[in-house]
Amino acid sequence: MNDDSSVHRIAAVVRKHVSDLPPGTRLPSTRELSRAHGVGPVTVQRAVAALVSEGRIETRPGVGNFVAAPRLSRRRDVSWQAAALGPPRPGVPEQAGSGLRGVPDDTIALHSGYPLPALQAGSLVAAALSRAAKDPAASRPAPSMGIPSLRHIFAAELAGRDGCDVGADDVLVTSGGQAALVAAFRGLARPGDTVVMESPTFWGAIAAAAEAGLTVVPIAARPDGPDPDELERVLTLHRARLVYAQPTWHNPTGAAWSPAARSAVLDVLRDHGAFLVEDDWARDLTLEGRTPAPLVCGDPDGHVVHIRSLTKSMAPGIRVAALVARGPALQRIRASRWAADLYVSPVLQLAAAGVLAAPAWQRHLVRLRRELLGRRDALVAAVREHAPLAELTAVPRGGLSLWVRLPDGTDAGTVAARCLQAGLAVSAGDEWFPAEPDGPFLRLGFAAAPPDQFDRAAGILGRVLDGPQP
Ligand SMILES: Cc1ncc(COP(=O)(O)O)c(C=O)c1O
Repeated sequence: MNDDSSVHRIAAVVRKHVSDLPPGTRLPSTRELSRAHGVGPVTVQRAVAALVSEGRIETRPGVGNFVAAPRLSRRRDVSWQAAALGPPRPGVPEQAGSGLRGVPDDTIALHSGYPLPALQAGSLVAAALSRAAKDPAASRPAPSMGIPSLRHIFAAELAGRDGCDVGADDVLVTSGGQAALVAAFRGLARPGDTVVMESPTFWGAIAAAAEAGLTVVPIAARPDGPDPDELERVLTLHRARLVYAQPTWHNPTGAAWSPAARSAVLDVLRDHGAFLVEDDWARDLTLEGRTPAPLVCGDPDGHVVHIRSLTKSMAPGIRVAALVARGPALQRIRASRWAADLYVSPVLQLAAAGVLAAPAWQRHLVRLRRELLGRRDALVAAVREHAPLAELTAVPRGGLSLWVRLPDGTDAGTVAARCLQAGLAVSAGDEWFPAEPDGPFLRLGFAAAPPDQFDRAAGILGRVLDGPQP
């Protein structure tokens, strides 16, 4: 009997067997079935896989195979929801930006915004998680502002490194930077208000603003920071009192504001009685030179709401960030945060505190920066050699990606789609613009793929750009 007919025979036997059993009944193991029917384990596994795809068997990895509950025979009719929901909320995309999308294993991942496991603080995180799991606080609700030890560490980090007037009472722990953005926008503005953002900027911030019902007004992102006169004009023209920016290693361009721009923007904020949400997402990701002091350190009076996330430098699974704010602004943001999710998982907070307090954390950061610098240089060289039509807008001194301009008239979305077909994932620039893009761009990340793939990646991009454009 050939292999396929053995698979069919075993599948038929098991199918008949399960039809008489209630859902949830455990089936004999692969070894038992292969012994009982005189066939090899691979044949049994293929028969089981066929029955799984028919919906008769459910496999629970590491536990076994079980009789599945019958599928609903009636097709769902959810058409009533269209009228009940009405039109979608403007500006909130249906799915997260391309950086979070999954791609097949054999695709080179230059699209992703999160570092590969090899660059994460893996063993430190594993040890801290296992210690956290044993802590009695891990199974209790956490304070809504965050666990005190973690808030102290975040405050001490700012005060120690940058001489900032920030205390633990000013710190609110959130589930990553994205949750902090939503809480800040909801806490500082009302639906219909305006938020000013550099253009291009992080797609998650654009989505968070839309989710909070805000209108985004762009101002040009410049290599040294926004033009303070332009910021002044925009705030006046749109009666805005909220600005969002990433002054250090701006994602996607990699720019860092000059000291002059930092102090000029603080002046504008004071003159206008406005807030700045300072998204300091890349504080740990300086590749060359010094990390500039955050704006919050030059602002004792609560104009700056500072967000510092650990997800990129520690591990994406440790979804923990700190939000620093002062005065009623902190109370409003806190209220909006707890209304969304009550408190952040104490297990993750304890683990984050454990990693931050470990002496090896600083060594991890040194290694991470060194590795990222090597990867940045490798990708810059690969793009220059194999994809000369992709013009590097700058060689960033921090962050995780390059921002390249494509020849005028190129459609970045089409280029990204063609690259994907050829085995390379990149992020098309359009999603990074809160209004019309000022040209065709791609973001190429150097942290989520091994550097020995960079030449091949740039080769694919080069060939796509050399080919006929639509
Ligand atoms: C600029 C910027 N801000 C915030 C975030 C959100 O980070 P988190 O993973 O902490 O939610 C990201 C993630 O890509 C980012 O690039």
